[in-house]
Amino acid sequence: MAGKIKITIDGKEIEASPGEKILWAALDNGIYIPHLCAGRDHHPPSASCRLCFVEIEGYPQPVTSCTQEVTGGMVISTRSERLDRIVGTGFEMIMTNHLTDCKACPKNRSCELQKIARERKFRLKPPRLPRLDRELPVDDSADGIKHDPNKCVLCGHCIRACREKGAGVLGFARRGFERVVTTFNGAPLGESGCNSCTACTLVCPVGALTLKV
Ligand code: FES
Repeated sequence: MAGKIKITIDGKEIEASPGEKILWAALDNGIYIPHLCAGRDHHPPSASCRLCFVEIEGYPQPVTSCTQEVTGGMVISTRSERLDRIVGTGFEMIMTNHLTDCKACPKNRSCELQKIARERKFRLKPPRLPRLDRELPVDDSADGIKHDPNKCVLCGHCIRACREKGAGVLGFARRGFERVVTTFNGAPLGESGCNSCTACTLVCPVGALTLKV
């Protein structure tokens, strides 16, 4: 096809558009790479979840596929002992900080964490690292929206969606394991200027922002 370049991922030759990120080229060709924070329209990508690592022939270190552009003839691997170790450790770090009550969660069976665990044969409750239960208050003050920060994976999709809808009431606060998505001054969503458009619930990949049932 005109304007396309050829690359190889996991032994499969595919066509991609010049400048396209490896992650989207792979996913569009049925090759799964774990990802939480990437979005096709995110410029620049935040590359914060650290789950989308791949190896490229000739590159000394793995790279995040949501930030790395394809170039013609690139030979890419999504799986190796080293990659599985890096991605597995990243997943464990996320899960130590995630309230895992899948059976009671509205996102059960449509949760991106469950998909990653299934695809990579990771455990949702990793045995190696101690759990960090934060027991943050659940906010159901907004019409139609429930915010459970104990399930947030800090991907930032909700913050972007909220901004795009013009409300802009969500943002990150604090650092490290204390980091949360919250409103200005930590006000309840219902008192924050949230107009209950529910765009945040559509993009949340886990059960942190969900429609009230
Ligand atoms: Fe690439 Fe999150 S999807 S770092």
